[in-house]
Amino acid sequence: MIITLPGHALLRDFVNSMQSIDYKSCWNARATTTAQALMAVDGSRDERTAQLTGAYSASQLRAALQLQHGDRVFELGCGAARIGRELAPGVALWHGLDIAENMLAAARDRLRDQANTALDALTRSRLDPLADASMDKGYCIAVFIHMDKEDMVLYLRDVARVLRPGGLFYFDTWNLAHPVGWRRFDFEVNQAAQQPPEQRKDVARNQFCTPQEVELYARAAGLEPVLTLTDSPWVQMVARKPDGGSDEALRAELATTVAQIQYPALWTSLFNCILDAEFRGEPPHSALDTLRHCALDDPLARMFRAWIHGAWMQRAADWGAPPDELEQGVNA
Ligand SMILES: C[S@@+](CC[C@H](N)C(=O)[O-])C[C@H]1O[C@@H](n2cnc3c(N)ncnc32)[C@H](O)[C@@H]1O
Repeated sequence: MIITLPGHALLRDFVNSMQSIDYKSCWNARATTTAQALMAVDGSRDERTAQLTGAYSASQLRAALQLQHGDRVFELGCGAARIGRELAPGVALWHGLDIAENMLAAARDRLRDQANTALDALTRSRLDPLADASMDKGYCIAVFIHMDKEDMVLYLRDVARVLRPGGLFYFDTWNLAHPVGWRRFDFEVNQAAQQPPEQRKDVARNQFCTPQEVELYARAAGLEPVLTLTDSPWVQMVARKPDGGSDEALRAELATTVAQIQYPALWTSLFNCILDAEFRGEPPHSALDTLRHCALDDPLARMFRAWIHGAWMQRAADWGAPPDELEQGVNA
C-alpha cells in the first residue's frame, strides 16, 4: 500500500482492487466500517487524524466560500463527513451527498450530535436530492480526482442547477501542470505499464487535469471561475453561479484570502518527501527533517505529524516504532 496524504487519498492498494465496474460498488467496498471509510477518504488511520485533516480543509473552505452562519451548504462526495463534521457548527445547514451508502453510514455515525445536517445517497452523476436554486454554497474535495471527466462535467452542470444565483462552489483536481502533480501522474502511468493488457482501468483511479481544462469545464457547465489557484499539485477553483451582477468585489475579496485557501509550499514539499519515501519503500525521513523546523503547534505540521505517525504505526513491523517526536508533535 502506498502512503496516502492528509486531505487526499492516494492509495496503491486501490490500484489492485479493479474488480468494481461502477463508482458505487467500488467505494462501498472501501467503507464497510467507519475506520475503513476514514482510511479511504484521506489515509487517516484514526479519528484524531481525521479531525486534524478535516479542520485543515474546513479552514480552507471557510475562506474560499466566505462561509456565513446563515448559509445552506452541500458537499459533493462527502465521504465520512471528515470536513462536514468541522463545518456544520458554523452554518445553517450542511447537506452531504455521496455515491456510497457505506460512506454515508460512517458520516451518520460521526455526525450523530449535529442536528443541522442531512445526508443523501446519489445514484448517478447528478445531485437529484437537491432542489433547483436551493443552496447558497457547495464544495467538492478529492472527489473529481476519482472520476471520469464526463462525470465531472455532468456534476458541475448540476451544481449550477442547485446553487442560487450568485452562489459559490469550491472544488479541486490533481494539477497536471505542476511538477509534483505531474510526478504523481507519472506514478499512475508506471502502474498502468505493469498491468496486464486485458485489464480495464480502475473506475476510481486518480485522474488529472490542467488548469485550462478545469476552467473550460466550469464555464461549459454554466459557472464563472472567480479564483483559480495552481501553485501546488492541486488545481483549486472557486466558481460562482452568475446572477447578472458584477463579481469584481468578490474577486477582490478572495484575492486577499489566497494564503488561507492555497496549499502552501510546505504542504507540497512534505507531500513530495512522502512520494519519494514511498517510491523507495522507506520511512519518510526527509519529511521528518522538514517537520523539525516547524513550530509544534503549526496546524499543517501537526496534521502531517499525525498522519505520518498513523502510517508509521501501520508499518511498525518493518519500520520499528515511530519516533517520539511524531507523538509529541501530534499532542502539542
Ligand atoms: C477521497 S474521498 C473524499 C471524501 C471527502 N470529500 C473528504 O475529503 O473527506 C472520495 C469520495 O467521493 C465519493 N465518490 C466517488 N465517486 C463518486 C461519484 N461518482 N459520485 C459521488 N461521489 C463519489 C466516494 O464515495 C468518497 O466518499
